[in-house]
Amino acid sequence: MEQMKRHVDVMFSAAEIQQRVAAIVDEMAEHDCGKRFVMVGVLRGSFMFLADLVREIDRLQREPHIDFMTLESYHGGTESSGVVRLRKDVSVDVRGAHVLLVDDILDSGRTLTFAVRHIENKGAAHVRTCVLLDKPERRSPDFPISADHVGFTVPDKFVVGYGLDADNRFRELPYIGVVRDG
Ligand code: IMP
Ligand code: MG
Repeated sequence: MEQMKRHVDVMFSAAEIQQRVAAIVDEMAEHDCGKRFVMVGVLRGSFMFLADLVREIDRLQREPHIDFMTLESYHGGTESSGVVRLRKDVSVDVRGAHVLLVDDILDSGRTLTFAVRHIENKGAAHVRTCVLLDKPERRSPDFPISADHVGFTVPDKFVVGYGLDADNRFRELPYIGVVRDG
């Protein structure tokens, strides 16, 4: 009944998300992550995904440093403004580190491209990327990026929940869904 009130149709349940998180960590087990491993969440959308990932990554015993950077490419609406701004930089020194960038969704590719370049410019030895959702149909030809780890590939629909928002609403939902019209 709660879900009805919110007008959100479930696309991926909490249980499905947890299964994918575990599968992503299995993928990560196959990659070396150096002596210094830093996981950087792109705020705000990645907070829930990163929290679940790090708890699952514990079983790999890699002792990551955890940090965040705040990027803004959105200004309230559901269309990208076209400009990415760094609102808060990482605090951990990433020089020489293996960095895993974690974001909620890969859409036009602007945000993740910016994030990768930024971390590379700060001197990281190696940068890998992990996104919960990928919308390949939306990729801009100017940002032909793909992520190293992808939770789910989704169609061109605006999704919310599990950290993702529509005008700052719905981030708290433990599942991912689509807001119903009307
Ligand atoms: P990009 O820079 O166009 O790839 O957009 C990436 C950012 O846009 C993500 O980190 C999200 O914050 C936001 N975004 C893109 N698509 C959606 C969506 O369907 N729901 C919520 N946020 C989205
Ligand atoms: Mg975001």
